Amino acid sequence: MIIEFVDRRFPEIPCDLLAYPLFEDEPEDAPAVVALDRATGGVVHTMRSSGEFKPKLHSTCLIHNPRGLKARRLLLLGIGKKKDLNLARWRDLAGTAARSAKSAACKTVAFAARSEARLADLARICAEGALIGNYDSDIYKTREKESRELERFLVLDLKGRAANGAEEGIRRGTIIGDAVNLARNLANEPANVLTPASFAEKCTAAGSVAGLEVEVLERGEMEKLGMNTLLAVARGSDEPPKLIILRIKGQRRRKGAPLYALLGKGVTFDSGGISIKPAEKMEDMKADMAGAAAVLGAMVCLAQLRPAQQVIGLIPAVENLPSGKATKPGDVVKTLLGKTVEIINTDAEGRLILADTIAYARSIGATRLIDIATLTGACIVALGMVYAGMMGTDQQLMDRLQKNCGVTGEKLWQLPLDDDYRKAIQSEIADIKNVGNRWGGAITAGKFLQEFAEDTPWVHLDIAGVDLDHDGRPFAAKGATGFGVRTLTQLFLTG
Ligand code: BES
Ligand code: ZN
Ligand code: ZN
Repeated sequence: MIIEFVDRRFPEIPCDLLAYPLFEDEPEDAPAVVALDRATGGVVHTMRSSGEFKPKLHSTCLIHNPRGLKARRLLLLGIGKKKDLNLARWRDLAGTAARSAKSAACKTVAFAARSEARLADLARICAEGALIGNYDSDIYKTREKESRELERFLVLDLKGRAANGAEEGIRRGTIIGDAVNLARNLANEPANVLTPASFAEKCTAAGSVAGLEVEVLERGEMEKLGMNTLLAVARGSDEPPKLIILRIKGQRRRKGAPLYALLGKGVTFDSGGISIKPAEKMEDMKADMAGAAAVLGAMVCLAQLRPAQQVIGLIPAVENLPSGKATKPGDVVKTLLGKTVEIINTDAEGRLILADTIAYARSIGATRLIDIATLTGACIVALGMVYAGMMGTDQQLMDRLQKNCGVTGEKLWQLPLDDDYRKAIQSEIADIKNVGNRWGGAITAGKFLQEFAEDTPWVHLDIAGVDLDHDGRPFAAKGATGFGVRTLTQLFLTG
């Protein structure tokens, strides 16, 4: 899909569909309403007075052969209330425009953006939305289908601002939107296709295009290092584990400057292991590598956007299966850091692979850690499918992540991490056990990870629940959401 900025007046743009956003609470004499009514001979007035269209967020009304426009269709698109508007909402609106156009078999769409934001930011956000909206996940359907992909997405500014900065904005938005879709694609892949080895190959392929150096540690090297908790999770599977390290090409290590490490849980399938999960919805566990996909997506963006900060990505990729070789409840293993862990429940495997990856990141010089993981069902119980859980020891970093939510649209909710929660994971036989009691499960998982970050500033994002969307949205297909790509990328775009 080609995305470009056009600085022509909206009635003059030939296209299959012109999407024109309207506020729920704007008067009929608002300039943008008047402009459309004038051009079309009163279409907004007619639609609104007949009660046919109320501009609630993402509501739409499609009009064929509109009078006065070169567009073949006009899509009235509800923005909702003025007070709720932020950049993230413009992304979603562009996405809704793209998806509506797609379902009406349109090829060329013009999107009338009307925002106070800097044109570069607005153009970037619209490009992201268009790409995210244009994505569908029916990759394995064999029936002949004509391509429904959009060919052109035109962004126009109703304020009539000149194209200044829009092109660079679209370039950035394209990088980010493509990376979100890369992460969605990976999480949507079935686990027979996406194994730890093929994940490593995908990283190498995507990395070589974007400008990442990709190193893969094999089982033997991990054994030598003593990454025994990571290996304990992989034991039950015939698929060998991989520790994938992503570095930005040409980014030189500057001593004394912080080195950020992004760590993503990459369980390509989580059956629970010997502590096996119930069959219902087990298929969703093919997406238990959504955190890893987000790290790859963010690193692919950063390699192209060249942030000032030094960043590396680390992805422990394993499959968690039961077998005669699998780790058993009660087993005790020694971690890379030297602490011993009693594995009470083999289904709490994400924290085991992350424990060793956190220790490894510190051993190679990382000074700030951010991990992202579909870690606990308890996080879904606490926050539902709307917010990701955030906790950690670096309040400043958490505040920065939080502040970006209005742009990323990825909602983060900080959970407490008081030491009072630590006793739930005290083991009788070892230094720590890998599960607590029934209560505060997202937090006790965080406490477990904290034990391995020690005094290195660290933030943990639990994306269980927000990684998948079972219903689909007007601006995005159902399935994997790519949650985290934008959060992790934006952090380095704003200092
Ligand atoms: N991958 C799951 C967490 C999960 C559950 C993600 C549902 C997305 C949707 C994780 O490995 C897990 O199984 N956690 C257990 C931990 C428990 C045994 C302490 C859980 O949440 O039930
Ligand atoms: Zn599990
Ligand atoms: Zn898991």
